[in-house]
Amino acid sequence: MNILLLNGPNLNLLGEREPEIYGTTTLAELEQMVQARGQALGHTVRALQSNHEGALIDELHQSRHWADGVIFNPGAFTHYSYALRDAIAATKLRVVEVHLSDITRREPWRRVSVLEEVCAHRVVGKGTAGYLEALEWLVR
Ligand code: DQA
Repeated sequence: MNILLLNGPNLNLLGEREPEIYGTTTLAELEQMVQARGQALGHTVRALQSNHEGALIDELHQSRHWADGVIFNPGAFTHYSYALRDAIAATKLRVVEVHLSDITRREPWRRVSVLEEVCAHRVVGKGTAGYLEALEWLVR
Protein backbone atom coordinates (compact mmCIF):
# COMPACT_ATOMS: atom_id res chain seq x y z
CA MET A 1 0.00 0.00 0.00
CA ASN A 2 0.98 3.62 -0.48
CA ILE A 3 0.73 5.68 2.68
CA LEU A 4 1.01 9.46 2.94
CA LEU A 5 2.36 10.77 6.25
CA LEU A 6 1.25 14.36 6.63
CA ASN A 7 2.18 16.71 9.46
CA GLY A 8 0.79 20.21 9.81
CA PRO A 9 1.89 23.50 11.36
CA ASN A 10 4.60 23.71 14.02
CA LEU A 11 5.33 19.99 13.85
CA ASN A 12 8.64 20.80 12.13
CA LEU A 13 9.71 21.92 15.62
CA LEU A 14 9.02 18.53 17.20
CA GLY A 15 11.72 17.66 19.70
CA GLU A 16 12.19 21.25 20.85
CA ARG A 17 8.57 22.45 20.89
CA GLU A 18 6.96 22.08 24.35
CA PRO A 19 8.65 18.69 24.91
CA GLU A 20 6.62 18.16 28.09
CA ILE A 21 3.54 17.93 25.83
CA TYR A 22 4.87 16.70 22.51
CA GLY A 23 7.95 14.69 23.52
CA THR A 24 11.58 14.85 22.46
CA THR A 25 11.45 12.91 19.17
CA THR A 26 12.24 15.13 16.18
CA LEU A 27 10.13 15.23 13.02
CA ALA A 28 12.97 13.58 11.06
CA GLU A 29 13.12 10.74 13.60
CA LEU A 30 9.35 10.36 13.55
CA GLU A 31 9.22 10.23 9.75
CA GLN A 32 12.07 7.72 9.66
CA MET A 33 10.35 5.54 12.27
CA VAL A 34 7.06 5.43 10.32
CA GLN A 35 8.85 4.86 7.01
CA ALA A 36 10.93 2.03 8.49
CA ARG A 37 7.85 0.32 9.94
CA GLY A 38 5.99 0.78 6.67
CA GLN A 39 8.88 -0.72 4.71
CA ALA A 40 9.14 -3.65 7.13
CA LEU A 41 5.45 -4.35 6.52
CA GLY A 42 5.93 -4.07 2.74
CA HIS A 43 4.44 -0.61 2.22
CA THR A 44 5.63 2.74 0.86
CA VAL A 45 5.41 5.81 3.09
CA ARG A 46 5.82 9.31 1.65
CA ALA A 47 6.25 12.05 4.26
CA LEU A 48 5.50 15.76 4.08
CA GLN A 49 5.25 18.51 6.68
CA SER A 50 3.95 21.99 6.01
CA ASN A 51 3.03 25.04 8.05
CA HIS A 52 0.66 26.14 5.29
CA GLU A 53 -2.95 25.09 4.94
CA GLY A 54 -2.90 25.39 1.14
CA ALA A 55 0.20 23.19 0.83
CA LEU A 56 -1.50 20.48 2.90
CA ILE A 57 -4.60 20.74 0.70
CA ASP A 58 -2.46 20.57 -2.46
CA GLU A 59 -0.73 17.45 -1.13
CA LEU A 60 -4.06 15.74 -0.39
CA HIS A 61 -5.24 16.59 -3.93
CA GLN A 62 -2.03 15.37 -5.54
CA SER A 63 -2.03 12.15 -3.53
CA ARG A 64 -5.68 11.28 -4.11
CA HIS A 65 -4.95 8.63 -6.77
CA TRP A 66 -1.66 7.48 -5.21
CA ALA A 67 -2.35 7.08 -1.50
CA ASP A 68 -4.30 4.16 -0.09
CA GLY A 69 -4.30 5.85 3.28
CA VAL A 70 -3.14 8.99 5.05
CA ILE A 71 -1.69 9.44 8.53
CA PHE A 72 -2.46 13.07 9.29
CA ASN A 73 -1.59 15.26 12.23
CA PRO A 74 -3.16 18.56 11.16
CA GLY A 75 -1.87 20.47 14.23
CA ALA A 76 -4.00 23.47 15.14
CA PHE A 77 -5.80 23.31 11.76
CA THR A 78 -7.69 20.40 13.33
CA HIS A 79 -9.76 22.81 15.31
CA TYR A 80 -10.95 25.21 12.60
CA SER A 81 -9.95 24.31 9.05
CA TYR A 82 -13.10 23.69 7.06
CA ALA A 83 -10.93 23.86 3.95
CA LEU A 84 -8.97 20.78 5.08
CA ARG A 85 -12.21 19.08 6.00
CA ASP A 86 -13.55 19.73 2.49
CA ALA A 87 -10.27 18.47 0.97
CA ILE A 88 -10.52 15.16 2.85
CA ALA A 89 -14.18 14.79 1.85
CA ALA A 90 -13.48 15.79 -1.78
CA THR A 91 -10.56 13.41 -2.25
CA LYS A 92 -12.30 10.53 -0.42
CA LEU A 93 -8.91 9.66 1.06
CA ARG A 94 -8.88 7.25 3.98
CA VAL A 95 -7.41 9.47 6.66
CA VAL A 96 -6.40 8.64 10.23
CA GLU A 97 -6.31 11.78 12.38
CA VAL A 98 -3.38 11.58 14.78
CA HIS A 99 -2.50 13.79 17.74
CA LEU A 100 0.54 13.33 19.94
CA SER A 101 -1.28 14.82 22.93
CA ASP A 102 -4.73 13.90 24.18
CA ILE A 103 -6.71 16.80 22.74
CA THR A 104 -9.85 15.56 24.52
CA ARG A 105 -8.27 16.51 27.85
CA ARG A 106 -6.76 19.87 26.97
CA GLU A 107 -8.19 23.39 26.49
CA PRO A 108 -11.86 23.46 25.40
CA TRP A 109 -11.01 24.84 21.95
CA ARG A 110 -8.60 21.94 21.37
CA ARG A 111 -11.28 19.35 22.15
CA VAL A 112 -13.10 20.29 18.95
CA SER A 113 -12.02 18.64 15.71
CA VAL A 114 -13.76 19.83 12.56
CA LEU A 115 -12.02 16.99 10.70
CA GLU A 116 -13.10 14.07 12.85
CA GLU A 117 -16.30 13.35 10.91
CA VAL A 118 -14.51 12.99 7.58
CA CYS A 119 -11.66 10.88 8.97
CA ALA A 120 -11.84 7.09 9.02
CA HIS A 121 -10.15 6.73 12.40
CA ARG A 122 -8.46 8.76 15.12
CA VAL A 123 -5.55 8.14 17.51
CA VAL A 124 -4.88 10.68 20.28
CA GLY A 125 -2.58 10.99 23.26
CA LYS A 126 -0.18 8.18 22.42
CA GLY A 127 2.81 10.28 21.38
CA THR A 128 4.81 9.06 18.42
CA ALA A 129 3.54 5.49 19.00
CA GLY A 130 0.17 6.80 17.82
CA TYR A 131 1.57 7.21 14.31
CA LEU A 132 2.57 3.55 14.22
CA GLU A 133 -0.86 2.58 15.50
CA ALA A 134 -2.38 4.64 12.67
CA LEU A 135 -0.13 2.91 10.12
CA GLU A 136 -1.06 -0.51 11.41
CA TRP A 137 -4.76 0.40 11.39
CA LEU A 138 -4.53 1.56 7.75
CA VAL A 139 -2.68 -1.50 6.43
CA ARG A 140 -4.64 -4.05 8.47
C1 DQA B 1 -1.52 18.45 18.11
C2 DQA B 1 -2.58 19.10 19.01
C3 DQA B 1 -3.02 20.44 18.44
O1 DQA B 1 -3.99 21.04 19.28
C4 DQA B 1 -1.82 21.37 18.35
O2 DQA B 1 -2.21 22.59 17.78
C5 DQA B 1 -0.67 20.77 17.62
C6 DQA B 1 -0.33 19.38 17.88
C7 DQA B 1 -0.97 17.14 18.73
O3 DQA B 1 -0.28 16.42 18.02
O4 DQA B 1 -1.21 16.86 19.91
O5 DQA B 1 0.02 21.43 16.87
O6 DQA B 1 -2.10 18.13 16.86
